[in-house]
Amino acid sequence: MRKLLVAGNWKMNAGPTEAKVLADEMAEIWKGKQFSHEALICPPYVSLPFVVKSFRDSFFKTGAQNVYTEDNGAYTGEISTSMLKELTCDYVILGHSERREYFQETDEFIAQKVSKSLSDSIRPILCVGEKLDERKADKQKEVVEKQLNTVLNQVDEKHADDFVVAYEPVWAIGTGETASPEQAQEMHAFIRSLIADSWSSDAAEKVRILYGGSMKPANAEELLSQKDVDGGLIGGASLKADSFSEIMSIAEQIGK
Ligand code: PGA
Repeated sequence: MRKLLVAGNWKMNAGPTEAKVLADEMAEIWKGKQFSHEALICPPYVSLPFVVKSFRDSFFKTGAQNVYTEDNGAYTGEISTSMLKELTCDYVILGHSERREYFQETDEFIAQKVSKSLSDSIRPILCVGEKLDERKADKQKEVVEKQLNTVLNQVDEKHADDFVVAYEPVWAIGTGETASPEQAQEMHAFIRSLIADSWSSDAAEKVRILYGGSMKPANAEELLSQKDVDGGLIGGASLKADSFSEIMSIAEQIGK
C-alpha cells in the first residue's frame, strides 16, 4: 500500500523568522494527533535549520527545493546532498517547472540530480508536467514521457520505494486553475504505465505520484481520492498552517 505524501513547497517564501512561526503553528495543530500518512515541508535553504528544529518532536518531515550533483568544491552558490543530510532532510524537490523555465534546467541535468539524491539516500520528488500550449495541442503525454523517461533510464528500479513523481501541469501552478480529477487521474495512470514499461509493474505500484497545481482544501478531496493520486505538492496553500493542515486532514479521512 502506498502512503499518501502531503508536501508543501514554500518556494522563495518564508525566511527564517516567518518559517519558524509557520512550522511551529503546524506542529502545534498536530501535537498529540495521529497522521497515518506522510507530511513534508520544503522551505528555502536558509530556513531549513529552523523548520527542522520546529518539527523535532513531530512527524513532519523536511525537504529542500533543489540540490547539486557534486559532494563539495568550487561550485559557488550550490548545496550538496551531504549538507542536506547533515540537516536531517528526507526529501528534495527536483525539476520543478520554475527551475526548468527560469534556470534552464534540462532533463539530463535533472536526471543526474535525481540519481545523486537516490544514491545518497535523499528521496527525490521529480516534477513533470506540460505547459498550456502543449496541453492545447494535446501533447501532454509526449512532454511528460520525455521528461520522465530521461530519468527512468538512468535510475535503477530498486529505488522505487524512494522515488516520487509530482505531476504538475504548468498551467495549473499558482493560477487557481486545477486539473480536473479525471485529467489528473488520466495523467497519473499514464505516468505509472511509463514506470511499468521502463522498470516493472511491481516497481510502478511502489512509486508515489503526487498531484501539484493549485491544490487547496476545496479541491483536495476529489483529487486525492483518485486511484493513482498518492498525495499533493502544494505551493500557495502550504503557506498557511490552517489550509495545509486541512489538506492533511482530508488525506487522513481518505485513508487509502
Ligand atoms: P501551487 O504550486 O499549489 O501554488 O499551484 C504548486 C507547485 O508549484 O509545486
